[in-house]
Amino acid sequence: MLIRQDYAYLPSSEITSESVYQERRALMKLAASAAVLAGSPLLAALGPYQKKSSSLELTPYEQITTYNNFYEFSTDKESPARLAKKFKTRPWTLTVGGEVQKPQTLDIDTLIKQIPLEERIYRFRCVEGWSMVVPWVGFSLASLLKLSGLTSKSKYVEFETLFDPAQFPQQNRTFGTIPFPYREGLRIDEAMHPLTILAVGLYGNELLPQNGAPIRLVVPWKYGFKSIKSIVKITLKETQARSTWHEAGPREYGFYANVNPAVDHPRWSQARERVLGKFFKQDTLAFNGYAKEVAHLYKGMNLLTFF
Ligand code: MTE
Repeated sequence: MLIRQDYAYLPSSEITSESVYQERRALMKLAASAAVLAGSPLLAALGPYQKKSSSLELTPYEQITTYNNFYEFSTDKESPARLAKKFKTRPWTLTVGGEVQKPQTLDIDTLIKQIPLEERIYRFRCVEGWSMVVPWVGFSLASLLKLSGLTSKSKYVEFETLFDPAQFPQQNRTFGTIPFPYREGLRIDEAMHPLTILAVGLYGNELLPQNGAPIRLVVPWKYGFKSIKSIVKITLKETQARSTWHEAGPREYGFYANVNPAVDHPRWSQARERVLGKFFKQDTLAFNGYAKEVAHLYKGMNLLTFF
């Protein structure tokens, strides 16, 4: 996710062999059951939700929660888990405003109690070339937007992450990082698509801060940078929504950012990807494997131009 040539793109130093991975997996299971027995506050905080099964092999919890892109904390992937330990996720409000009938400010716990939660097992593909499979817990973004009432001017949705330099060390810097607050956007039909969710949990637990607690976007057919974390503000707009990475490097990060093996990043190929915890790479899938569900949204658009 680095835009300039003078930063080295950080390849993962985390290539884990299959046996180490299996061992870790076993340890993880043990640790998880131990935590349940000990009544860890981490677990089972979400209450009832509809669980799902899937043929996809889930990426271990430990890996999803220790290998993170979260530039507000750090530009490397290992530090967010440590630096986010004291991040305050309560009280937390989310505002929905702009071109809507009923602007609202919602308390996160009230929202979680009101909206039925479900598990969504999704592939997740970072623009840097790694991927994972995540059992998110959340609800469709459409169900939230409908509460505010859309109008004929609700054409784009813009999301904004909390701006709080006291908690996010990188927000004190004026250069050497991206501009904050982090913003991302979707076209309204993408936002209303049933695959687009707001996640509040992961593996049945509340999201950890490094994964974007208390609420983050997940758009499974797009590169991971669209899936903005720790959201405080959603604004419906008539004009195109802002996107931090697109503004920082428009040649490298498109507004659409649909996963596409045929459109390379200017500095690396997107044809293959490395699944976290796996040794061998696999082919990247068009729209990250969700083409059947979403390709029609881009009918008639040249995906080389609108990448
Ligand atoms: N959201 C904010 N606010 N800040 C970030 O740096 N990084 C993005 C996205 N959302 C980022 C963000 C990128 S590049 C990726 S790949 C995913 O978060 C990573 O999500 P994960 O750490 O849960 O795997």
